[in-house]
Amino acid sequence: MPKTAPEVHADLVLEPRDVKFDWSALPLHWIPDEPVATHTINVLHLLLPEGERWFIKVFKDALPLITDESLREEVLGFIGQESIHAEAHQEVLDHLLTQGLDPRPYVRQLAWLFQRVLGEKPRLGPRQRRENIIERVAFVAAIEHFTAFLGNWALNSPGLDRAKADATMVDLLRWHGAEEVEHRSVAFDLMVHLDPGYLRRVRGMAVSGPLLVHLWVRGVRFLLAADPTLRGRIKPSWREAWEISQRGLLPDPVQSLRSGLRYLKRGYHPTQEGSSAQALGYLATSPAARAAAAR
Ligand SMILES: [Fe+2]
Ligand SMILES: [Fe+2]
Repeated sequence: MPKTAPEVHADLVLEPRDVKFDWSALPLHWIPDEPVATHTINVLHLLLPEGERWFIKVFKDALPLITDESLREEVLGFIGQESIHAEAHQEVLDHLLTQGLDPRPYVRQLAWLFQRVLGEKPRLGPRQRRENIIERVAFVAAIEHFTAFLGNWALNSPGLDRAKADATMVDLLRWHGAEEVEHRSVAFDLMVHLDPGYLRRVRGMAVSGPLLVHLWVRGVRFLLAADPTLRGRIKPSWREAWEISQRGLLPDPVQSLRSGLRYLKRGYHPTQEGSSAQALGYLATSPAARAAAAR
């Protein structure tokens, strides 16, 4: 008998897949003639190496606080997956630099944000340190709601194929997206394990949601200004983002906002969004994931 959706999810064992991508032939505008859509998605490559390394640091700090063995296993699987994600996106950043688009000024600001502002605070007593770790786990849980939302979008985005987006980049987005859907419960379950209070969840989203929007808007502006073929000629707007989303090349901004609000519903759990079976189905056919499995 085929498994039900909750059974598929409950049976998951999170394993890192050691994928490799070759970016040597990636064009600067990897969605042809769509520089705004390309760079809006490229913000992922700016944010994720620093962001996911920060997730890993937060989760390593949280490990000694975990008293449930199966949750600890999931957290370790999450750490393994996120570390490969960070490296995969870092390679795209390195490729942008070889194409004359220097991402380093923006990345330096992010490094300051994640390491200094959101990093571990020095000289805290044991209770304050525990509180600080749980607060940072709540920020990660809210961001992971959006990474799962984006992952689910990437898995269901035929517009990218219709627009003849670069196949290797689409595989990166869908492989990463599938693993985000696969591990979408881990940060939330860890937060609830450490503090089941509703207020913690709200605070996590109240900080992470607006911060993510701010970083994304700044990132799009930065990339369009730094693109040597555009020389700052294109000024992005929310209206244009909405129009591009209607062509299936970006998530709909209104749907993204609604998704953020769903996180605040009392009975919310990440398993209510996306499909583990679809994610595993993609990972079984992803060229990068299949090559990793064969190595
Ligand atoms: Fe990730
Ligand atoms: Fe993730």
